[in-house]
Amino acid sequence: MAALFILLSLLFFSASANVHNVVKVTDNPADQLVAVLNSNRTAHKGSSLYDNPGLACIALQYVKAYQGDCDAVGGADAKKPAESEFAETFAPACGVTVSTLTPITGRLLACQSKYVDPAEVFSEVLMKNSKSLDILYDKNHTEVGAAVTGTDGGSPYFWCVLFSNGKRNSSFALEGGVAKVTRPGCFSGANDACSGASDWPTRPLGLWPYATSALFLVMYAFGL
Ligand SMILES: *[C@@H]1O[C@H](CO)[C@@H](O)[C@H](O)[C@H]1NC(C)=O
Ligand SMILES: *[C@@H]1O[C@H](CO)[C@@H](O)[C@H](O)[C@H]1NC(C)=O
Ligand SMILES: *[C@@H]1O[C@H](CO)[C@@H](O)[C@H](O)[C@H]1NC(C)=O
Repeated sequence: MAALFILLSLLFFSASANVHNVVKVTDNPADQLVAVLNSNRTAHKGSSLYDNPGLACIALQYVKAYQGDCDAVGGADAKKPAESEFAETFAPACGVTVSTLTPITGRLLACQSKYVDPAEVFSEVLMKNSKSLDILYDKNHTEVGAAVTGTDGGSPYFWCVLFSNGKRNSSFALEGGVAKVTRPGCFSGANDACSGASDWPTRPLGLWPYATSALFLVMYAFGL
């Protein structure tokens, strides 16, 4: 079942990659999401944003803070991690120097029961919120970081995009210059191959998300 699911998503991705003409950065869904996002910005005469691995690793810690609780992502009970978490928890987990933390100028967040490919997450999930396009095209952003992770190796899947107005060389700087790769989950910008097939366990996932085709989808867009 899991193998079939992975095969189907790979087939689906190659099909949609042709349609969207996605530049294949590395074998990493977070990098692919950034590529789709940047090509959409440039098509709208916006700038292409620098894919900052320190910021992207923080995006992964950000979604891990939800501990698999989709309901906390959107709707009436929407929560977001406290600002203090960036310095106290997320930066240390990533090896990001705390003094180089820079304001977040936008966030896009989604949680869903089904894994879909990055191009589809972008257009069918993240961009469905009315505020999302404003956040996407905001001229104040200079850099971006994206992350995706399953929960306990399976559903639900959390996607997170964080934007910042930091300078490329002096924001979210990594101690020793390299991103501390934390699994599970994938983040962008680190030249880190991270594919669903090899990094997400194929142990039984609790078959209900696929078997019953139950789909839940929660998302949230924050200006700041
Ligand atoms: C950019 O993304 C938005 C939201 O998905 C979509 O409506 C628009 O057509 C896209 N633009 C291009 C040039 O792909
Ligand atoms: C962009 O930044 C400027 C100056 O910090 C601020 O006044 C403005 O509201 C920001 N624009 C958006 C769309 O956030
Ligand atoms: C950023 O860093 C690169 C390499 O470390 C360097 O070549 C470049 O000049 C720096 N850019 C700025 C604006 O400091």
